[in-house]
Amino acid sequence: AEPADIVAFVEDLLSEKKKSLRGKRLIVTAGATIEAIDPVRFISNHSTGKMGYAIAEALARRGAEVVLISGRTSLPTPTGVRRIDVLSAQEMYEASVREFATAVMCAAVADYTPEEVAPTKLKKGDGELTIRLKRTHDIAAELGAHKAGRILVGFALETDHEEANAEGKLQRKNFDFIVLNSLRDAGAGFGVDTNKVTLIDRAGREELPLLSKAETAEKIADKIESILK
Ligand code: C5P
Repeated sequence: AEPADIVAFVEDLLSEKKKSLRGKRLIVTAGATIEAIDPVRFISNHSTGKMGYAIAEALARRGAEVVLISGRTSLPTPTGVRRIDVLSAQEMYEASVREFATAVMCAAVADYTPEEVAPTKLKKGDGELTIRLKRTHDIAAELGAHKAGRILVGFALETDHEEANAEGKLQRKNFDFIVLNSLRDAGAGFGVDTNKVTLIDRAGREELPLLSKAETAEKIADKIESILK
């Protein structure tokens, strides 16, 4: 077995957490989507998928059946998780609808995609180039409109009016709770191994300290577990 699998297995043996989510099926979306412009170029964002992968791992360690719908990332698949690789927002949407269950929507999904994908590489000219973009599906909002008893957890990464924006998304996308990341906090956000988040639901908010992404994932899993009970 690979060393990482051996470590995961030993951690599992030593874990004090019971298999508290056994019999539950969950999906986690993670990472960045990629929207093709032509055969060699794309539009994407800085998400590395670390937070989503940590959540998938935490849920699987508690015995849940986890489907990780993943944009492009260089991370290894967590032990015990079924991973579906997708590229575009459209592919992530189709996989999420197909697998629809209680969901943690951690992915950084493109809101816009080129209206047309050029079949051959765009050639440079002297002047400016305009690429027209059209809206993608808002995966979280569409699942939220049909959630029927499923739990939905969203993420918000805000640069201004953080809490008001996150609360708006909680309502609009019909989340049970939303995890607010602020780019203002040192040690939070893209690529780093730590995070500082606030969990917001309809009853109020809980500000967590600076934690590793693995510890943040455990807190999020605890909250999901308490709602499922
Ligand atoms: O509106 P905003 O992109 O800030 O909302 C963030 C939340 O919505 C995240 O949970 C993200 O995964 C989800 N989302 C989505 N599909 C989109 C855009 C965002 O599922 N097209």
